[in-house]
Amino acid sequence: MSTSDPAGDGLGLRGIHVAVPDGPGTRTLLDAVDLDVAPGEVLVITGSSGSGKSTLLAVAGLLRRPDRGEVLVAGTPTAELSERRRTALRRERIAIVYQSANLLPALTAREQLELVGHISGERRSQARGRAAQLLEELGLAGRADQLPAKMSGGERQRVGIARALMARPTVLLADEPTASLDGALSAEVAGLLAGEARGRGLAAVIVSHDDAPLAHAERHLHLAGGALKAITTVAG
Ligand SMILES: Nc1ncnc2c1ncn2[C@@H]1O[C@H](COP(=O)(O)OP(=O)(O)OP(=O)(O)O)[C@@H](O)[C@H]1O
Ligand SMILES: [Mg+2]
Repeated sequence: MSTSDPAGDGLGLRGIHVAVPDGPGTRTLLDAVDLDVAPGEVLVITGSSGSGKSTLLAVAGLLRRPDRGEVLVAGTPTAELSERRRTALRRERIAIVYQSANLLPALTAREQLELVGHISGERRSQARGRAAQLLEELGLAGRADQLPAKMSGGERQRVGIARALMARPTVLLADEPTASLDGALSAEVAGLLAGEARGRGLAAVIVSHDDAPLAHAERHLHLAGGALKAITTVAG
């Protein structure tokens, strides 16, 4: 990857500024934030509650427009795009995983994934095959016909990750993906998420309160006072 175009096929943030109303004034949450995440790179962002981590992910995921700055998704600048084009780019390129998997209660694990293929116009047989393979990879082959209500929290979260990958994103954003899981499960899900992202060459950003994802990240940044600071290189 050339250093002159670091956003390349990954994710790039340029001079992102976000301020929110705070009493009679405003509070700067993100102060000229720059960030590049390369394909296959897993980045973890930590920061205290209210520091702006979810806001940063919402900006990177094209769910929220910053007051200033540019977001590059797979090299495409997005600031000037219409809301319709941003939505289309998000659907095509970006997968977002939250603390809760938000599965559809009436669909089995397999159906949650197949629906994603259906929405993107994929042939039924192909979607079925990819769904089965993803469930297998995430250790869910035996749970394919289970409804969410019958799954454990860890299983639901793994189905959520499989569903996110089913969309064949370029960028994977995860907001506290392991926060609702306990120790061992949290570590396992974090490892799966990071491993799948890296193996598929996705640019991945994981926001986390707990330490589980840190062991699986190439880079760790800390958000405080509106700025991202490098902490240490953990793995990779
Ligand atoms: N649209 C908005 N209007 C007003 N305040 C907002 C808005 N969006 C975010 N905030 C405030 O900005 C701050 C940062 O919110 P954000 O959700 O990004 O923090 P966070 O780092 O994800 O916190 P947590 O770790 O608790 O999830 C919070 O104080 C929140 O109330
Ligand atoms: Mg948050």
